[in-house]
Amino acid sequence: MTADDSITLTLDGSEIEVPAGATILEAAAEQGIAIPVICYHEATTPNGLCRVCVVDVDDGRVLQPACVATCQPDSTIETDSERVLRSRRTILEMLNASVNLDEAPEIQQMLRDCHADPERFPHAHKRDPELIDDNPFYVRDYAQCVLCWRCVQVCAEDAQFTFALTLKERGHDTSVATAFDISMTESPCVFCGQCIGVCPTGALKPKIEWGMQQGLSEDELRAATRRGRKRDRDRA
Ligand code: SF4
Ligand code: FES
Repeated sequence: MTADDSITLTLDGSEIEVPAGATILEAAAEQGIAIPVICYHEATTPNGLCRVCVVDVDDGRVLQPACVATCQPDSTIETDSERVLRSRRTILEMLNASVNLDEAPEIQQMLRDCHADPERFPHAHKRDPELIDDNPFYVRDYAQCVLCWRCVQVCAEDAQFTFALTLKERGHDTSVATAFDISMTESPCVFCGQCIGVCPTGALKPKIEWGMQQGLSEDELRAATRRGRKRDRDRA
C-alpha cells in the first residue's frame, strides 16, 4: 500500500490513519474500539438494516451506520457520544419491546451497555407467531427474530445460492418465510445449516437442541428428528 491509499481522521479524539475505503466499523476495530452490531456479520453483505452501529460523523444531521459508511478524510467521528448512545438505546428498547430476546445474550449485553430501560414501551405489542416445526432438522421461532436478514443472505448470494428464504408481510408483521409460505421440505432448502450458524438470537435452532430444551425423551427426540412436514401431518 502507498501513502496515497491512506487517509487521516479523528476517531474518539485520536488522530488515526486508515486505508482509504475502510468502513468506520473496520477503522474502529483496528483501534480496539468495539461498535455493537446486529445485522452485520463478516460472512454477509452489510446492508445497514438495524442501525445499532450508528456513530456521529462531523456532528452531521443524521448518524451514520458504521458497518456501511466509509471513512472520509479529515472527518471527526464519535462512537460513544451521548447522542449516539441515546439513538442506540432507543433502537434496542424498541427491539426489546417487540421481540423475545431471551436467547440473544449479545443483544442483552448491548441493552445493558447503553443503560436501556427494558420497560420503556410497556404497551408495545410483542411479535408472537407460532413456532414452525416443519422439517426433521431445525425449528424456526420468529418470535425471537430481529429481522437482521443474515439467514436470508447466506441462503442466497452470500453463501448457498439456494434462495429458500425471503420476507413476507410488512411493518410489524414482517417475517422471514419461504416463498408462498410452503414448508421447508417443499422449498429449495438443502438443510446446510448456514442460516442457523449466522442467526444471532436463537430464532433458528437445531431440532435436537430445541427438543432437549423442551425436555423430550430420547424416543421423542428420535421421532421429532425424523418428522417431516408439519402441515402434511396436520392434514393427515
Ligand atoms: S431468523 Fe435469525 S438470522 Fe434470520 S432474520 Fe431472524 S434473527 Fe436474523
Ligand atoms: S450493524 Fe450496522 S446497521 Fe446493523
